Amino acid sequence: MIIIKSRDEIEKIRESSRIVAEVLQTLREFIRPGITTWALNKKAEEVIKKRKARAAFKGYKPSFGSGAYPAALCVSINEEVIHGIPSTRRVIKEGDIVSMDVGVCYKGYYGDGATTVAVGEVEDRVKELLKVAEEALYRGIEAARVGNRVGDISFAVQSYVESHGFSVIREFVGHGVGKRIHEEPPVPNFGEPGRGPLLKEGMTIAIEPMVAVGSGEVRIKEDGWTAVTVDGSWAAHFEHTIAVLEEGPRILTEL
Ligand code: MF3
Ligand code: CO
Repeated sequence: MIIIKSRDEIEKIRESSRIVAEVLQTLREFIRPGITTWALNKKAEEVIKKRKARAAFKGYKPSFGSGAYPAALCVSINEEVIHGIPSTRRVIKEGDIVSMDVGVCYKGYYGDGATTVAVGEVEDRVKELLKVAEEALYRGIEAARVGNRVGDISFAVQSYVESHGFSVIREFVGHGVGKRIHEEPPVPNFGEPGRGPLLKEGMTIAIEPMVAVGSGEVRIKEDGWTAVTVDGSWAAHFEHTIAVLEEGPRILTEL
């Protein structure tokens, strides 16, 4: 069942989503070569605590993954696509691309967002990967209009990504967001226009393209969580929580 939210509830999702945006902005400023992914996680927890919110991923048991997720933040580097677990042994290096994904719960409502940054200089095709993956997110958001269908979002993302010679990851999808971090409907990053659930005023969804330079096929590492590309090609991940409104899509995970 897709849960429609009132204006009041959307304001609550906006509050938690604003904290998500603040965490990601803080991490973008904090990240540098030589620090560990654990330090990023600690920084994320600090911001969440300061805002009297709760880290949504910590202790979360999804249908995928093995048991409860152990951290506030997912940090996925280079060929890692999503769900990288922060570690005191994993050091960020010059030339890495780092995806950071965080979920927050505040006053009973969730927000979910992700971004990918290049640390120092990266080659042109990698710069293009980041640009295309982020633009794909905005193309998807543009398609999230009352009267459209989820397939219109999916198609907007996929067609943009593939027109640049990159691939979308199909194993993981976006989702509804509300009193739970993962609600219906699933929002795939591939699909056909005019298909899937109808988008209605008051739906709140997370759109989250995951884009790879190579085939986009993924496997899960031995830690039971980290999704990596099978061909070792690098991947990027961008995510916003948005509201579908009569006047058009509203991004909730921004400052
Ligand atoms: N970040 C994922 C999403 O956007 C969910 C992470 S689940 C967790 O839907 F278990 F890793 F927390
Ligand atoms: Co999400």
